[in-house]
Amino acid sequence: EQARHIQQTLAEFRLSKNQLLEVKKRMKVEIERGLKKDSHKDATVKMLPTFVRSTPDGTENGDFLALDLGGTNFRVLLVKIRSGKRRSVEMHNKIYAIPIEVMQGTGEELFDHIVHCISDFLDYMGMKSARLPLGFTFSFPCHQTSLDAGILVTWTKGFKATDCEGEDVVELLREAIKRKEEFELDVVAIVNDTVGTMMTCAYEEPTCEVGLIAGTGSNACYMEEMKNIEIVPGTEGRMCVNMEWGAFGDNGCLDDIRTTYDQAVDENSLNEGKQRYEKMCSGMYLGEIVRQILIDLTKRGFLFRGQISETLKTRGIFETKFLSQIESDRLALLQVRAILQQLGLDSTCDDSIIVKEVCGTVSRRAAQLCGAGMAAVVDKIRENRRLDHLDVTVGVDGTLYKLHPHFSRIFQQTVKELAPKCDVNFLLSEDGSGKGAALITAVGCRQRDASS
Ligand code: BG6
Ligand code: GLC
Repeated sequence: EQARHIQQTLAEFRLSKNQLLEVKKRMKVEIERGLKKDSHKDATVKMLPTFVRSTPDGTENGDFLALDLGGTNFRVLLVKIRSGKRRSVEMHNKIYAIPIEVMQGTGEELFDHIVHCISDFLDYMGMKSARLPLGFTFSFPCHQTSLDAGILVTWTKGFKATDCEGEDVVELLREAIKRKEEFELDVVAIVNDTVGTMMTCAYEEPTCEVGLIAGTGSNACYMEEMKNIEIVPGTEGRMCVNMEWGAFGDNGCLDDIRTTYDQAVDENSLNEGKQRYEKMCSGMYLGEIVRQILIDLTKRGFLFRGQISETLKTRGIFETKFLSQIESDRLALLQVRAILQQLGLDSTCDDSIIVKEVCGTVSRRAAQLCGAGMAAVVDKIRENRRLDHLDVTVGVDGTLYKLHPHFSRIFQQTVKELAPKCDVNFLLSEDGSGKGAALITAVGCRQRDASS
């Protein structure tokens, strides 16, 4: 009887192939709305132009700084790119913490902190006086009018610094560098992490024309035909579009598959009503969905002897790494209990079985939803090129994709099932998106030199 109730609860998370095909279809609709002049202003999937017009060709050359802000880690990098027959990329990087008070303080504090970290890095590398060109991986939605201008549309994930939305983040960075009066830098490009990842992968594999992040957040980019990007003048060639697909569903188009648990996660978040698809698919929120289900099952007396502990009330306890451990097939139930114990949850053997099933159900849905989105993207590229069959490579990064024992497999399977006319090769980015940002910066410098 209890088992039946639990299965009933989880049934809402189990999507049929038809439901997933429907999600794919709706994503396609939102993509078109984002690209079209008449509808892009109200579109939820924003399809932001990036001013990246090609993937790397091996002629990129020089020494660059890169910043990588918005994922699990904030990094400062030095990237040395050498062109020619023996082309190579050498990277040095340092990870810095961004305390929550800074993520959610004032914009000035945030950018001062970033510049402080750059300063430390330049000291560490002994190159304070170099005045290098810099590429800024900034993993949030930005309205770009050129490679080096990006107005922050809205913060997402765990960031909420004041006075940044509606501002050009490149200017905010430049101003903070000026305030510090210690060194000069030349900010050449602002780059979304999906775009950085696509470029990183495309440097090794020229068929890579799509970038995917399944990490803290969820998003994708791809090379779209210029003639389809109605808000950018010109019809020749292609441009990379940062989809910002995390906002898919913000107009209610996914309401029929969102559960009460998804709604609770949304209400508990920093950005209620926004990034609804991301809140069903990405690492920052999967654990929260699990937590909401566990709270409900406990209230109904099916778990933890009906006792809701303080731990279970704590936001963010189930980080991606814990979900990944709990779902690992190599782990015996006793070990699952040990993990729950570590988190401060006293479980029985039965509890641990239920928790594992809840985690598995939530992460499966995430992988399938993400796969449905990707199926829409690759089919769109195929249709753009009027092909019956498309071969394409997707560059992928993100902790959820990399750490979780089942996410990537279920995701890939879903893409295959929902886009049978595409042969999609998935390539993991080993170097993060900082390398891609440096490659874009190299092209930016060359274009600027050519036109001056
Ligand atoms: C990294 C990129 O490799 O992947 C980051 O360099 C990006 O910029 C990240 O945001 C995404 O993963 P996560 O899981 O850290 O959000
Ligand atoms: C969020 C951001 C997006 C980013 C993604 C992955 O969805 O809005 O810009 O690409 O997270 O980090």
